[in-house]
Amino acid sequence: MSYYEIQGGRPLCGALAIHGCKNSVLPILAACLLAPGQSVIHNCPDLSDVSATLDILRLLGCRADREGNTVVIDASALGRSDIPERLMREMRSSVIFLGALLARLGTAELFYPGGCELGPRPIDLHLSALRTLGAEILEEQGALCCRRGREGLSGREICLSIPSVGATENIMLAACGCPGVTTIVGAAQEPEIVDLQNFLRAMGAEIDGAGTPAIAVRGGAPLHPAEHRVMGDRIAAATYLCGVAAAGGEAELTGVAPDTLTAVLACLEEAGCTVHTGRDRVTLANAGPLRGIRPVRTAPYPGFPTDAQAVLMAALAGGEGATLFVENIFDSRYRHVDELRRMGADIQIAGRAAMVSGVGMLHGAGLRSPDLRGGAALVVAALGAEGASQVSELRHIRRGYQDLDKNLRALGADIRELP
Ligand code: EPZ
Repeated sequence: MSYYEIQGGRPLCGALAIHGCKNSVLPILAACLLAPGQSVIHNCPDLSDVSATLDILRLLGCRADREGNTVVIDASALGRSDIPERLMREMRSSVIFLGALLARLGTAELFYPGGCELGPRPIDLHLSALRTLGAEILEEQGALCCRRGREGLSGREICLSIPSVGATENIMLAACGCPGVTTIVGAAQEPEIVDLQNFLRAMGAEIDGAGTPAIAVRGGAPLHPAEHRVMGDRIAAATYLCGVAAAGGEAELTGVAPDTLTAVLACLEEAGCTVHTGRDRVTLANAGPLRGIRPVRTAPYPGFPTDAQAVLMAALAGGEGATLFVENIFDSRYRHVDELRRMGADIQIAGRAAMVSGVGMLHGAGLRSPDLRGGAALVVAALGAEGASQVSELRHIRRGYQDLDKNLRALGADIRELP
């Protein structure tokens, strides 16, 4: 199994173009099922989660061809509505296909995504919403058999008790196949939801409100394929910014909208970094040790993103001063803490809270990525640490970061992938 060898303590300097957003392109690829014909998706990142999604589209009968960072999906020959359990286990966010398959074919067979490294990943909100739209869903031994009910699908008001990103996206996709108006009350407001709305509009959907807690879709009319450029990945950008903050230096990230990163930028500035922003770029500089900051409480957008919790913690662990983190979104999202402790980090956990006391400088160690963002956090910590670190289990990192080591080397980091 290959691993990263990282020699810490080198400042990061230069410019980097941020790849397309994983959590935006996955629902957009599912949305391509809504219409026969060829959709063209630009700025599609080359990630293992994206490859898994393209494999599912091909298994369902679509053509899916990549030409660099552009992917062409032809859903004309969509002929299957069942996703095998092995593919569902490979990527739990495949549940996003549920709404699109119901809208296009009126049926969908898939499996419960199952828990993941972050703890249980329930889909009760997805299922109850689709039943409200008129779907009949049978659950047996982990399998979900969904189909249009006898009355067919029709637009309804759906109130979400949690602003679930995936449930909001599944409802938006299913609603495109429901005659009448569907309103989502308590919708997730993440930028990825807005990006999905923009693609659906390009397909001819009548949809409004993404980015607010109230989304309305007038469904039932046929849609057509479209061309779209995926937004930049705000969490990948946050990761690189935390790397520069931890190692010191100055870097400009392009291809990302700063207003999708407001909460993260505020924390990095409070910790002592200098931040400048432009329409589609962020520049961060840091020369000294990072300071402790006000409590970081993860929350639905526009709050501090749970996906950036680990990478910010990794940067602050090697700084000075204390910071309290509270992880409010997932039950088990501190699996990187034990690995950071191997580097000398002083982190005390009590339930959802983690008190990080900066130790001035972490030291290198042999590390294992526990999950996608936890693995990225170990790279961030190693960049700022004294001495050499090894980060293994890279399969987690490849799910969400394109060319992480190559990009960091371009900024001056001493990082190599060794077999
Ligand atoms: C999306 O996951 C992202 N994944 C996650 O990014 C991200 O952390 C999360 O949203 C929150 O922003 C993708 O977009 C592919 P949720 P999702 O439904 O949709 C509970 C990464 O690292 N919930 O908003 O699965 C759930 O347990 C990944 O890129 C229910 O209780 O997240 C969680 O506590 C990790 N019932 C909370 O809601 C449901 O039916 C938020 O989950 C659905 C969710």
